[in-house]
Amino acid sequence: MSAAQTLLEFDDVHVHFPIREGLFKREVGRIRAVNGVSFEIKRGQAFGLVGESGCGKSTVARAALRLEEATSGSIRYAGEHVSLMLGPDMMDYRRKMQAVFQDPFSSLNPRQKAGQIIAEPIRVHGLKPPTEIKAEVHRLLDLCGLPRRFEGLYPHEMSGGQRQRIGIARALAMDPELIVADEAVSALDVSIQAQIITLLEDLQRDLGLTYLFIGHDLSVVRHICDHVAVMYLGRIVESAPSEVLFSNPTHPYTRALIDAVPNPDPAVEAGRHVEPLAGEVPSPANPPSGCVFHPRCPLATERCRIESPALLTVASEHSVACWNSPQAPDHPTTTQRTSS
Ligand SMILES: Nc1ncnc2c1ncn2[C@@H]1O[C@H](COP(=O)(O)OP(=O)(O)OP(=O)(O)O)[C@@H](O)[C@H]1O
Ligand SMILES: [Mg+2]
Repeated sequence: MSAAQTLLEFDDVHVHFPIREGLFKREVGRIRAVNGVSFEIKRGQAFGLVGESGCGKSTVARAALRLEEATSGSIRYAGEHVSLMLGPDMMDYRRKMQAVFQDPFSSLNPRQKAGQIIAEPIRVHGLKPPTEIKAEVHRLLDLCGLPRRFEGLYPHEMSGGQRQRIGIARALAMDPELIVADEAVSALDVSIQAQIITLLEDLQRDLGLTYLFIGHDLSVVRHICDHVAVMYLGRIVESAPSEVLFSNPTHPYTRALIDAVPNPDPAVEAGRHVEPLAGEVPSPANPPSGCVFHPRCPLATERCRIESPALLTVASEHSVACWNSPQAPDHPTTTQRTSS
């Protein structure tokens, strides 16, 4: 894959949070929120990241947005190392990558009207001459399916879906290339969710956007994403094109996640037997040895308790980190790096 096609690339990224105690705030441990994550997002792709609460999805997003520094590993954007960007390059990077979060109520200034909220980044970054800002706000409201009168409304005067449209308009005001949508539709009612998903799909098609789409609702992620990576306890355990992941899940954790999605037909659902995953997600401050999934895995063997499986390619664009996958080597020549 050439660097021109790859927009965002994580290579063995770790984000650890120190646990400090005592008068001198001595480091007594680390929360390994992201523990050796590698992936590539191609230009124009909708890349999904799924996994249970606390597995590190938002920390991946925050590292990409440079709201969190990576402890180790490299993050590249269009081939450039993000950690080395300075001054104007950094400003440009911050413009090109915009975030839409779960709760626009807390991310929109309650004392600003929507028109000001959308205009502010345009003004601060000097993206349009002052005389053109109003027209640009109108264009963005149109683009996000809101009547122009919304420029005079405060966030509390809108519904959740309308606020999320303002959040999207504000992100688009920066003319971004990549949108990080972290649970952007999770808090909305199902019918409103569908409308916002349609909007995101339309915008992607019309503006050529790239998405890092984070969600825990697999049916939503499946609908919107071309490629999905499954995270468990700070690692990617499986990564594949959406249709492959959902039709041929290979990692036992992916299978359990997909099995847990209820069938929309109540008659089918009533006859379905789903074996729930045993146990709880372990603490990222004290991850299990070997494969981090082994304490909950129905297929775990002695090897899984000792050695960590690498994320290996099993088919085109499909990779899995599991000793039971058909491509896993017989000998542990490619164990994942773990840092202290
Ligand atoms: N600033 C921080 N300091 C300490 N620990 C943190 C910090 N941010 C996140 N964590 C911890 O890192 C782990 C991963 O958190 P993260 O928010 O990335 O998970 P997530 O997959 O987004 O979960 P959710 O689905 O609930 O949003 C969690 O155990 C969390 O408590
Ligand atoms: Mg999160």
